[in-house]
Amino acid sequence: MEHKRVLERNGFLHVWHGHEDDPPSWELCPPCPARRCGPRRVGRRGGHHPQEVMENVADYRHLGTLHRLAVRQVTPPTPEGPYLRSTAGRIPVFGGLSWEKSTLMAGLGWTLTQLELPRFGMAVHLWGLPTPTGPWRTVLRVAAAREVTDPGRVTGLNLPAARAALTRAVARSTLRMTARVILQDVPIWNHKRYEPRPRLAAGDQSVGIYRHWARQFYPPGAN
Ligand SMILES: [Fe+2]
Repeated sequence: MEHKRVLERNGFLHVWHGHEDDPPSWELCPPCPARRCGPRRVGRRGGHHPQEVMENVADYRHLGTLHRLAVRQVTPPTPEGPYLRSTAGRIPVFGGLSWEKSTLMAGLGWTLTQLELPRFGMAVHLWGLPTPTGPWRTVLRVAAAREVTDPGRVTGLNLPAARAALTRAVARSTLRMTARVILQDVPIWNHKRYEPRPRLAAGDQSVGIYRHWARQFYPPGAN
């Protein structure tokens, strides 16, 4: 089944980056019900490839080493055709509070991470949108959206406007923090060498699953 080459969704314009004789056989990305907070742009002159940028999301073990973010309770990602879903992960914030993290990737140019704070009845959605601009040149944009998942739990705030203001502030600060975290990755992306058949260490299963899943987006024998 042929799908749209251009898709407007959540205020973004997604364009199929493939040969005109090879239209996408899947929907470029699923919708997100949350309200968008706004994009940020990082790594303007990055010398890297969209697959490498997306691999950063699958490689959860580097979060502790490079970003000092300890992710717990991670399960390996699950391929669903052109989508790759990670359903579990927990990032401690402070005082026993944790973001509950899940991620969905669609192809090599779209990823949506959902961070939930169940105790506060809110979620922040983070898009990572690497756009190829030339050979080994990628511009990465990140954007955030907010969602009240349980109105009765947003810190006891009964006024919808107050709940909206709080979730907006949390989403904006999460977006700023994400942009700072990604800037720690950029020098590595710019200097690392792509290893087509890496020797993965124990615990790097998610990277192996990601690499295997990513092969479907290249002609046979190209990756
Ligand atoms: Fe990273």
